[in-house]
Amino acid sequence: MTPALPAGYVGDPTALPAWAALSRHAEAIAATTLREHFAADPERAERMVYDVADLEVDLSKHRITAETLALLVDLARATGVEQRIAAMLAGEHINTTEDRAVLHVALRAPRGITIDEVTPDGRHDVVPEVHEVLDRVRDFADRVRDGRWVGATGQRIRSVVSIGIGGSDLGPAMAYQALLPYKTVELSCHFVSNVDGDDMAGALAGLDPAETLVIVVSKTFTTLETLTNARTARGWLTAALGDDAVGKHFVAVSTNAAEVAGFGIDTDNMFGFWDWVGGRYSLDSAVGLALVLAIGPDGFADLLAGFRAVDEHVTSTPLERNVPVLMGLLAVFYRDLVGAQTWAVLPYSAHLDRFPAYLQQLEMESNGKSVMLDGSPVTVDTGAVYWGTAGTNGQHAYYQLIHQGTQTIPADLIGFLAPSYGSLGTDPAAAQALAEHHDLLMANLIAQGEALAFGKTAEEVRAEGVDEALVPHRTFRGNHPTTTILAPAVTPRVLGELIATYEHAVLTQGVVWGIDSFDQWGVELGKKLAQKVAAEVAADDPQLAHDPSTDRLIRRYRQARADGRTVAGSAR
Ligand code: F6P
Repeated sequence: MTPALPAGYVGDPTALPAWAALSRHAEAIAATTLREHFAADPERAERMVYDVADLEVDLSKHRITAETLALLVDLARATGVEQRIAAMLAGEHINTTEDRAVLHVALRAPRGITIDEVTPDGRHDVVPEVHEVLDRVRDFADRVRDGRWVGATGQRIRSVVSIGIGGSDLGPAMAYQALLPYKTVELSCHFVSNVDGDDMAGALAGLDPAETLVIVVSKTFTTLETLTNARTARGWLTAALGDDAVGKHFVAVSTNAAEVAGFGIDTDNMFGFWDWVGGRYSLDSAVGLALVLAIGPDGFADLLAGFRAVDEHVTSTPLERNVPVLMGLLAVFYRDLVGAQTWAVLPYSAHLDRFPAYLQQLEMESNGKSVMLDGSPVTVDTGAVYWGTAGTNGQHAYYQLIHQGTQTIPADLIGFLAPSYGSLGTDPAAAQALAEHHDLLMANLIAQGEALAFGKTAEEVRAEGVDEALVPHRTFRGNHPTTTILAPAVTPRVLGELIATYEHAVLTQGVVWGIDSFDQWGVELGKKLAQKVAAEVAADDPQLAHDPSTDRLIRRYRQARADGRTVAGSAR
């Protein structure tokens, strides 16, 4: 039985007067350009910049006015955003389809704060157990990092292989890359997610089993890809060191102690988390163990402090200046009132190259839904497609389409005032050279925001003496909306702030749309069918009962297996 719908749930947002008012307003301003908005109200460049913890979030280059923001805030109030945030913090089961609390905020709550989960027996403060696990993680990480934890042959751990997928991989893998300048030189981490054997082979190549620690990260500990990869890694290890070595070289992060034990990992070497943490919200739990090993427990504590600072902002700031809520509302505005289908995330930092991929899961697994909490169909489009890569590479690839294509693609430009390598100290000449890189990087971010917003009119092109035939080709219509997020540097704390900001923006969108942002039933069908097909491709029984196309593909692949697969054969 699913729990009651959360307090404040209103169902179809389009039935609300607040939606009607927003729609009328959106229509009225639809033809107004950013040039006109800035001409009418130059002060918006200052007024529409908001602070959340260390982040400065500039919303001035959006196709909105002060009235748009007021109407969006009205919509947030009318759809119960404030109540839902409160219900989340009160441990209510706002993930109704899985009948679970949603308490990732507890993962970064300081000791002594009370955050209750509502259970069948009443209320239960989860913060003490969060800290119990954090303490174990800290102790384990310290022992690995200082060499007290050694492998089966007594050698120090030099390599960590973290095996997981989705939320059990994207967070730690993204954060590891983001925070590489903070990593100890004593350890290197490798992340394996894909069930493609090339992924595993690539990660293990060159590693010495005697110096390798494998972390198997899986909330359920039943995920096909993760268990397949974990078994392969165990085979690789035991072939070199024997079965008894597993205890010194394998640890697990999971909610499922029985499966962990069944796999052969001592549950003393298991770090738990809870069903009230969604996979895509779990980096700040023991799921981040590889990151803790790499940057150390203190660095991880800084990351958690960043998350926490944004949680405090969200719970204590009126919606009018509540940055994650405003970002979520803008996502609704462009998706439904402007018709944008995609949203680009463009971090101007090589370290954040995997941040868009991380956000893809956060945004798209959360808000890619087509029914509301009560099971009725949604009445507006929900989650956009999120995509992007680190600047400036995209400028020489797909930015063309953003600038001169036919769609509106809002974009987040994320930049850092200081380069992270500089703050960690390199030799002065090298630091100076790298600082010049950073100037260019940031100049590009700023210039792109300007070009996207204001474009270049035909008159401006003509004034440059461009041949009339080329004028249409060299005109930029501009009016492309961007959020510019400026942060001090890519630090653990700032990374936590960025992630938490998007987490709460995702929640805001979901509340307005009336959907469950915390389930992911859409991944189930493919998972189940893959298991069935996996048995069939390896079976002798020719019976197949899929659709004709699927049956043909299975037979085609069976034939290739039967013929003996070679590189040349598979390239046919
Ligand atoms: O892809 C679905 C999903 O359940 C994600 O939500 C989750 O992060 C991922 O699979 C991995 O699941 P697990 O941690 O249970 O292995």
